[in-house]
Amino acid sequence: MQLPLFKSDKKHEKPGFSGTKKNILNDILKTDLNFTVYNEVNRRHYWHAFPAKFPPQLPALFIEYLTDPDEIVLDPMMGSATTLIEANRLGRRSYGLDIDPLAIINTNAKLKCIDRRRIENHLNSIVYNAENKYKSNKKFLAEKIDKRFDEATMDFLNYWFQKSTQLELMALLTEIEKIEDDDIISILYSVFSSTIITKSGGVSMARDLAHTRPHRVQGKKVKSAIQEFAIKVRKILNENVNGVYSNQAAVIKGNARNIPLRDETVNLIVTSPPYANNAIDYMRAHKFSLVWLGYSINELKELRKQYIGAESKININEEPFSKRILKKIESIAEIKSSKSQAFRRYCYEMLKSINEMYRVLEKESPCIIVVASSKICGIDVETHKCLADLGREVGFEVIGIGKRLIDRNRRMMPFSAVKGNSKIEERMHQEYVIGFWKN
Ligand SMILES: C[S@@+](CC[C@H](N)C(=O)[O-])C[C@H]1O[C@@H](n2cnc3c(N)ncnc32)[C@H](O)[C@@H]1O
Repeated sequence: MQLPLFKSDKKHEKPGFSGTKKNILNDILKTDLNFTVYNEVNRRHYWHAFPAKFPPQLPALFIEYLTDPDEIVLDPMMGSATTLIEANRLGRRSYGLDIDPLAIINTNAKLKCIDRRRIENHLNSIVYNAENKYKSNKKFLAEKIDKRFDEATMDFLNYWFQKSTQLELMALLTEIEKIEDDDIISILYSVFSSTIITKSGGVSMARDLAHTRPHRVQGKKVKSAIQEFAIKVRKILNENVNGVYSNQAAVIKGNARNIPLRDETVNLIVTSPPYANNAIDYMRAHKFSLVWLGYSINELKELRKQYIGAESKININEEPFSKRILKKIESIAEIKSSKSQAFRRYCYEMLKSINEMYRVLEKESPCIIVVASSKICGIDVETHKCLADLGREVGFEVIGIGKRLIDRNRRMMPFSAVKGNSKIEERMHQEYVIGFWKN
């Protein structure tokens, strides 16, 4: 079923930007990009915790002023799909790509229409049956767990989840997997995951999970997984979420280094890559729910190596890095060679990704990359300047680099970047908005 859609496509009654798109991009980068009002934002954005999300107003601003309805917006590292949902709300078509399976699961869920009555019906029977099984058929659930997970995954589960929680989660999954409607399963998987991945570590024994630095808390009082799931589904049903055009957005699981789109087919790119110092290790938190959703712990370990910013070794050819980047690599190498290699790998992967962005973008079109700087071995690597250099290298013109403050509570930044008073630490509280242009 398709719900009636957005309130309107009409332009914001905000200070207007005028002139060519290139001029508008230049002007936007100089405006106040610190968004602090959240009450008007589509609640879909908050269905699932995800580190370093955009404030929705940020991609919305570029989408609204730099594209026309029906044009195509791409986010090749879409995370929790902020860009896609805003593009959708504004009547643009969109592609979202990510390597992270949880990003795909959540985005698929967020792009579904909400049929409240049907979800409510399913929820009632899921909760009723799951509770019954949990109370009276623990043996059946324990056998299902035994069959479902390999040894390494089971070790992980036993460390991070109490036995009773494991049984409850298995009872929930057993019921969800009986449903024949893929759209509803998709929403329920995402909610299932959101009961585990929360700032407090949800129903696992971890804390700080949404910050991606989990610690096991001995004796943590864990809530009932079945009840938590029910609360979260009901919250979504009671929220005022605008509808979406699910056929206007395509979600692709893949690597930004190899975007599966034809040359010059996209009108705008808005994206934010991972941090250069691997400050947010997405998989470290996401595996907590992905193991339940069909991935083995070893499979996830392998996949993690492909994330931009992951610190595993790869062979890198000589790359045309700018003097600035080579200098940073050198300075880090004087302190720690492995960290310098990791930064080199980051620049290499970002070069490949930005090159792909350039390729799929139409001529006379903008590409926006939002990134915070990172400190590696005490050196501020000025990621924004390095990425601007990489963009120039592949052919982009750099129109400008805007600055904005990060709302830490909303974006769920890693703790390490919050502490400290040094100048570099202060700079970590802001991020940069690089405006590229393909001539
Ligand atoms: C800063 S987050 C994006 C957050 C997003 N802007 C949002 O609002 O939710 C960076 C994303 O890059 C993704 N990523 C990391 N390596 C990738 C790769 N090789 N290809 C595609 N996506 C990748 C991560 O999985 C993560 O979702």
